[in-house]
Amino acid sequence: MNSKRLALFVSGKGSNAINLYDYFKDDSEVNVSLILTNNPHSPIIDFAKKNGIPLILLSNKEVGQAEILLEVCAKYEITHVVLAGYLRLIPKVFIDYYERKIINIHPALLPKFGGKGMYGMNVHEAVIESGDTLSGISIHLVDSNYDEGQPLATFYCTVENGDTAEKLSIKVQQLEHQYYPFVVKNSLF
Ligand code: GRF
Repeated sequence: MNSKRLALFVSGKGSNAINLYDYFKDDSEVNVSLILTNNPHSPIIDFAKKNGIPLILLSNKEVGQAEILLEVCAKYEITHVVLAGYLRLIPKVFIDYYERKIINIHPALLPKFGGKGMYGMNVHEAVIESGDTLSGISIHLVDSNYDEGQPLATFYCTVENGDTAEKLSIKVQQLEHQYYPFVVKNSLF
C-alpha cells in the first residue's frame, strides 16, 4: 500500500485530531502530515508544535478559498483530508479535487440531526428534545452539501431518561475517540 498522507482540519478543541495523531503515529502506511486550523485559540496549535506536526493557521477568509487550501495541501503532498471538528464550509473546487478522499464525523445520527446549524451542543440539544432513545456518531465522505456525503459507518449509544445534552456529548465523544481512527484507516482509498 502506498503511504497515505493525512491533513486534519480542526476548528475546536481538537480532541479527535489528537486521538487520530496518536493512533497513526506508529503506522507505517498512514501519516498525519499536516494539521490545519482556522481557530487561533485551539489547543491543537500547541499540540502540533510540541509533536513536530506541520501546522497551518488560516483565517476564515483564507479557508474559503479553494486555491489556498489546494496550495497548502499540495505543499505537504496530502492524499486525504480528515475533518475533526471542522466548522467551515469547504469550497466545492477543493471537494472535487479530493473527491471521495475527505472524511467527516458528525456527533449524531444522520440524516435526521444534520444540516446547517447542527454542530456542537445544538446537535445534542436537538436529540434530547426529539425524545429519541438512540444517538451516536455518523462517519461519512464529504460532498458539497452539509452532512450529506456517502455514509461510511455509524455507531450508536443510548439516550437515557434524564440525560442532558452535556451528558450525551460525553457519551458521543467517547464513541468518536473509540471508532473514528479505525474507520479512517479502513476508508483511505
Ligand atoms: C466532535 O463532536 C465532532 O463530531 C464534531 O465536532 C466535535 C469536535 O470535537 N464534528 P473535538 O474538537 O475533536 O474535541
